[in-house]
Amino acid sequence: MSELAGPPVPGLAKLWTHDPVTAGPYRLVGRLGAGGQGVVYLGEDDAGDRVAVKMVNVDLSDPRARSQFVKEIAAARRVAPFCTAQVLFAEVDGERPYVVSEFIEGLTLHRHVRERGPVTGNALHRLAVGTVTALAAIHSAGVVHCDLKPDNVVLGVDGPRVIDFGIARALGNTETASSRVMGTTAYMAPERFRNDVIGPQCDVFAWAATIAFAAGGRPPFGNDSLFAVMHRVLNDPPDLPAMPPVLDELIRECLAKDPADRPAAERVLVRLLRQDGRVTEPLRRESLLEAGNETAGAPTPNQPLPQLTPTASQPGATQPQVPARPTVPTQARPAQPAHPPVQTQPAHLPATGPGMGAGGGGTLRRLRREALDAWGISTALFLGSVGAAAGYVASSAVGPAAAVGAVAFVVVYLVRLLVATALGRRPDRR
Ligand SMILES: Nc1ncnc2c1ncn2[C@@H]1O[C@H](COP(=O)(O)OP(=O)(O)OP(=O)(O)O)[C@@H](O)[C@H]1O
Ligand SMILES: [Mg+2]
Repeated sequence: MSELAGPPVPGLAKLWTHDPVTAGPYRLVGRLGAGGQGVVYLGEDDAGDRVAVKMVNVDLSDPRARSQFVKEIAAARRVAPFCTAQVLFAEVDGERPYVVSEFIEGLTLHRHVRERGPVTGNALHRLAVGTVTALAAIHSAGVVHCDLKPDNVVLGVDGPRVIDFGIARALGNTETASSRVMGTTAYMAPERFRNDVIGPQCDVFAWAATIAFAAGGRPPFGNDSLFAVMHRVLNDPPDLPAMPPVLDELIRECLAKDPADRPAAERVLVRLLRQDGRVTEPLRRESLLEAGNETAGAPTPNQPLPQLTPTASQPGATQPQVPARPTVPTQARPAQPAHPPVQTQPAHLPATGPGMGAGGGGTLRRLRREALDAWGISTALFLGSVGAAAGYVASSAVGPAAAVGAVAFVVVYLVRLLVATALGRRPDRR
């Protein structure tokens, strides 16, 4: 493993002999894991900022596959950074395409449950709120995750984060995608087995199955043979663990066989936030996502979530109000605009995002990049030649004309370099 600039990462494995050692501006310093879509590496830049680099096993030589990949990743980049690992950029021109996203330190939900047992009480509530906040943000950007499951939720220090959204769709109907069906059946909605049109409601089903897994340690339709699971998903009611009544009712609705009977992710979020008194009136989408983000990242008050019976859907029931828990703004995640600049083509350079250095390392990197910028050098050469021509007209001597030209070149080159570095990112290059 090449040396880590930052603190050690638990579970990071060494690079294999034939693994790549760089991805764009990042050194690959170890393997975070591998799944059906490819291998995920930990990348570090000069400043020690970390990213997750997923090298996908997909052949993008077919223009249709390539254009679908580019389109889906561009859409994933527009997802607001609420409880998600932001997609930073993708590279499709090299031998192996890869997607770079924010690195989230922590165990996946799957590993957490396997090693430490089911999630209960407030932690379960925060997990449900955080993951459905992410889903609402993903859907509001027009993206469907298509592969939500406990392996795609990382329990970060500042709350749960959903990863890998849009990648399953980006891979479309390639061989990679169809050969993966085995691993994720337990979280797939019935319409996926029926070959129906797939929409955001398949993620709502997967969300409910994921939360049921977190609460009970097993998916609600089992995890044995592919056909047995498919049969149960299509025909049987879910086998759910004990959960607080409001959550239980929501999960059952979200696991409805007909996607039209499932509530949208945003509605699920409203109902979960109402439960703890954080939402009492209609909110704008952005405020709702912020409330979800804050609830998911709030510190654990050392008390179990109150049992909320009876539920609001029962006749004569009143909505129970749980006092709002004290919340602390999540440290590493300042509120950000819901829609970062839209990119129509996959980028080849990193965007500045949470966890990515915008300080000294970033400035040096920009300076280096701008110093070699072909457009800047050509402009300086052109204006230098104009200066030389003007010098010749004025003096009719070659020596002074060359001196004027050289000075003009140097001045134009330096001024452009400083201005471009100071202004930072230029959207036309991303
Ligand atoms: N953004 C990220 N931050 C931190 N760790 C990550 C990130 N993305 C992936 N990982 C790690 O890499 C591992 C492998 O991820 P990968 O997506 O390849 O596998 P998977 O989720 O099990 O399967 P699938 O290919 O179906 O998504 C994950 O289990 C997780 O530990
Ligand atoms: Mg994954």
